Amino acid sequence: MNLASFSAQLRDLRGRALAAVQKADDPAELDGVEGAFLGRNGELRKLLGGIGQLPTEDRPKVGALANPIREELEATISARRLRLDEIALDVRLAHEKTDVTLPGRALPRGSLHPLIETQREIARIFHEFGFVTYESPEVETDELNFELLNIPRDHPARDLWDTLYVAGTDRHYVLRTHTSPGQIRVMRSTKPPIRALLPGRCFRYEAVDASHGFEFFQVEGLMVDEGTSLATMRGLLDQFARAMFGADTATRFRPGYYPFTEPSVAFDIGCLICGGSGCAACKRSGWLTILGAGMVHPVVLRNGGLDPEKYQGFAFGMGTDRITMLRHGISDLRVFLQDDLRFLESF
Ligand code: PHE
Repeated sequence: MNLASFSAQLRDLRGRALAAVQKADDPAELDGVEGAFLGRNGELRKLLGGIGQLPTEDRPKVGALANPIREELEATISARRLRLDEIALDVRLAHEKTDVTLPGRALPRGSLHPLIETQREIARIFHEFGFVTYESPEVETDELNFELLNIPRDHPARDLWDTLYVAGTDRHYVLRTHTSPGQIRVMRSTKPPIRALLPGRCFRYEAVDASHGFEFFQVEGLMVDEGTSLATMRGLLDQFARAMFGADTATRFRPGYYPFTEPSVAFDIGCLICGGSGCAACKRSGWLTILGAGMVHPVVLRNGGLDPEKYQGFAFGMGTDRITMLRHGISDLRVFLQDDLRFLESF
């Protein structure tokens, strides 16, 4: 071998290497080309390994011939590597482009439990009349649930509420049988004029059937002021019934009995199913009872820390379950607490 043929082989190597670099169209292939020409066992090393066969005086010239070619190849390879990265990025961006004309993906939409939705609707209506929602505990003392509401221990009126007592408390604590103990709590914590709403869960020792649960919901209302009358209550409840069940809803008061109100009434609306002519839902009466109410008993006002000579008030308590059943035509309240998605998803 002489210098001329060495130089010819170098040029040939350069030509093939440049062509291979331009042809490589992904980073792995380019790595392969780099290895094949410039790597530890690559062609350039092999060619340089043969300089021993050159005449001694030619050997120092080899570097001057080979180094620029190595540098040119290295530079070309890194330029190509950058270019391949750019191409890869372009391809990715092209795929990631947002097509704003595509239809949106539908998100599953949640909904409120029908009892909670009814509770909120009741509250919404009474809030319009200035009522404020309060919280009151589900576990109550016997004193608040009964005694301060004018229902003494061992009084026959207790039979109106089948009570769940908290074990081990010597009948001191009960699961509240109604939201009425909240009346006492509000009267003791707020100065009249009072317009309070007390929604929540109540409990009774009931045999469960289509219209009775051992847990259920009520919304209590309490208004106390100077000069509050039965007529005030009637007007308010009429407005409520119309807002809830429709503008032409018929209403009536019937005499009722509760130990903590005097006088007491049951408040009925015209049957929503038959329109008043009588059907199975209203037991042929044409009327549906939606709540109990009355003027707050003077004993209860006093227990709430108020002077019955100065203040009068009324209270009412409605069954949220029953009102929800009437609104949606549900005939069995057990579905409310069964957590069956087929039922819940229909609201
Ligand atoms: N607390 C009564 C019940 O659960 C309902 C009621 C509330 C009646 C307020 C009159 C006044 O049966």
